[in-house]
Amino acid sequence: MFPFTSKNLIGIDIGSYSVKVVSFSGKPGSYSLKAAACFKLPREGGQSVPATPGLLAEIVKSQKLKGSRAATLITGSSLVFRHIYLPKMPEKDLKEAVRWEIRKETSIPPEEIVADYTLSNGSKEENRLSLIAFAARKGDIEKIMSMFREADIDLRVVEAVPTALLASFHLNNSWEDGINYGVLDIGDSKSTLAIFKNKKLAFAREIPSAGQRFTTALADGLRIDEAQAEELKITYGLNMPEKETAAKGILASAIEGLCAELHRSFNFYQAQFREGSVQKLFLSGGTARLKGIEGFITEAVGIPCFADDPFRGVKIPQNMDKQTISAMAPCLTIAAGLASRNP
Ligand SMILES: Nc1ncnc2c1ncn2[C@@H]1O[C@H](COP(=O)(O)OP(=O)(O)OP(=O)(O)O)[C@@H](O)[C@H]1O
Ligand SMILES: [Mg+2]
Repeated sequence: MFPFTSKNLIGIDIGSYSVKVVSFSGKPGSYSLKAAACFKLPREGGQSVPATPGLLAEIVKSQKLKGSRAATLITGSSLVFRHIYLPKMPEKDLKEAVRWEIRKETSIPPEEIVADYTLSNGSKEENRLSLIAFAARKGDIEKIMSMFREADIDLRVVEAVPTALLASFHLNNSWEDGINYGVLDIGDSKSTLAIFKNKKLAFAREIPSAGQRFTTALADGLRIDEAQAEELKITYGLNMPEKETAAKGILASAIEGLCAELHRSFNFYQAQFREGSVQKLFLSGGTARLKGIEGFITEAVGIPCFADDPFRGVKIPQNMDKQTISAMAPCLTIAAGLASRNP
């Protein structure tokens, strides 16, 4: 196939700690992996330096993806998602109704709201629609678009984390009717929980606890600097050696905070939507690579928990290093979901 005739998008997930890129060749259902990479952002004064257009352009060039079209995430502090119910109405009216509802839910001035929605599983009442609405400040979206323009990358899709997680899940799993599946993306600055049922997004929530908080807990608790704390975290995770008993306790208690939020979300989902309990939980994001985290969350939350593999349903060509890809796979779930979008 000629590289520039591909309709597939490159998925570019720009996080606060790293930029992830995934690209597939072929058609949905029989994708082959074309590129998969994760670039840690440089750090200055203990903080990651935000991605620049120059860096994006360099990344795309290094992966030999120049000229491709891209999908990326809505980022920025203004993003909100809300579950709302509306009376059944024609699709053309729905968008305006969602905007109207979301006005009540956010402090973004009405003229600056950009909103979208995805139909959710469902209201048990025939005349009601259940949906998850996403909204962000127009300025935040424009910033992303101008960054891609400056990087000379043709941006076609901008979407939120929960729907990118759904797209990736869909690519790699067969759905069992009536089962609730959870995916928890644990990044650096935040975690995002999404629950799926019957091929739809049923619930989404952002939790402000992730890798950075775990590193800071270790740094503060052990009185070491953040770089040392991060190294300790990545080297051992929860499998700390004997001499690091204090570190293990600190890390475990930070992760317990995240588990308590998870528990609360699952209870809320069950009580509010009466859709049953979540049977399986998949972990994505850089912190999903933390040693021992699957077993820890399984025990704390009481739901079997697995590191996600966004390439389970994807062919990996011979010339790619399967071991390296498999080690970083959970970090690439969102980028893989973006790459599987249809422009
Ligand atoms: N092998 C590892 N073990 C433990 N933690 C890890 C490992 N690799 C990366 N991390 C942690 O994962 C986090 C980065 O994850 P990721 O790259 O998914 O974040 P991000 O998408 O850039 O951030 P966000 O989504 O919050 O904006 C950091 O806190 C980092 O310390
Ligand atoms: Mg992220």
